[in-house]
Amino acid sequence: MRVLVTGGAGFLGSHTVAVLLASGHDVLVMDSFASGSRTAVERAGEVSGAPLGGGRLDLVTGDVRHPEQVADRLAAFAPDAVVHFAGLKSPTESVAHPAAYYSVNVAGTAQIAEAAARAGSRVLLFSSSATVYGDEAPAPVAEDAPPAPVSPYGWSKLMAEQVVRDVHTAHPGQRAAVLRYFNPVGAHPSGRMGEDPAGEPANLMPYVARVAAGHYPELKVFGADFATRDGSAVRDFIHVMDLAEAHVATLEWMAAQAEDPGVKVWNIGRGEGVTVFEMVRAFEEVTGRPVPHRVVGLRAGDIAESCAAVDAIAAEVGWRARRGVEDMVRDLWAWQQANPGGYGDRSGPGLRSA
Ligand code: WQD
Repeated sequence: MRVLVTGGAGFLGSHTVAVLLASGHDVLVMDSFASGSRTAVERAGEVSGAPLGGGRLDLVTGDVRHPEQVADRLAAFAPDAVVHFAGLKSPTESVAHPAAYYSVNVAGTAQIAEAAARAGSRVLLFSSSATVYGDEAPAPVAEDAPPAPVSPYGWSKLMAEQVVRDVHTAHPGQRAAVLRYFNPVGAHPSGRMGEDPAGEPANLMPYVARVAAGHYPELKVFGADFATRDGSAVRDFIHVMDLAEAHVATLEWMAAQAEDPGVKVWNIGRGEGVTVFEMVRAFEEVTGRPVPHRVVGLRAGDIAESCAAVDAIAAEVGWRARRGVEDMVRDLWAWQQANPGGYGDRSGPGLRSA
């Protein structure tokens, strides 16, 4: 298929681009480069044998809120499918900048979903988040749990899910799926692609890798008196390559259905909770590198436990995550060691552009 990937210059998007290309699909990446990396797109082409500009992978700079600015490129590409990653993704940041989150994540989704349908795309995959479940849902959480977002970011993802449903209704024949990610970590096994947060990482594992590499003196553990097996918080960490493969499996499944299956909602996780202390210990054991850490106070908005129920996508699409914690930390460390400065081209304006 010809697949438009918005946000394809980001961590999750670029890894999905690599797997799409390796699976024989052709890709047009659309990214505003507010936080993405052109090098990540080049590397996605490199690791999959489909170099950027070589006929199977191309790139257009564009803002999902204004697809009309690149209408000619979208029309020329004539996508069969759209995977929509582009968006702002920090719960903490969204509290201070709600308007930007609603503008990019909700209005941007409306614009790109409509543009995709008009360009003749048949399948839309939307990048949602476990954050829509909030902090009330008991773990493991299933897709029919009542959503209860607790941040503007979470609300923007839930609202965007509704946008996807309404655009699907308005365009019979277009198919749509919503994928709710848990905690993606790790890197491409080649060591050529990985997570490259601008500035100090908010997420756990990129921070751990930078402590191990000596960029920071210690990891601050935000709380160790949760009601969990070791007191630290529990998350459903999933290898970014498993997440990327889930997108290709879902895309191909949606396109292959004889009838429109309606808007599907699936969790993307491993279905296994791991604590913060367990992740740190696994990193130290696999890499042999110490990760000095100190317990500090809770971080606003953090929940004790988050873990996905993952039987629905396994039963319908036949996909399950197949990589474990050791694979995640091994591939993360290989990326960190081979790219101590990340991609080296992250100069986008970030939120300032939204
Ligand atoms: C995991 C655990 C922290 C950093 C967020 C978004 C979610 C998704 C993934 C977009 C928590 C602890 C972290 C640190 C720590 N993003 N931690 N020290 O908060 O579960 O999820 O990122 O979709 O939507 O909410 O991920 O990696 O930030 O935190 O102790 O320096 O690690 O308190 O318990 P989170 P995280």
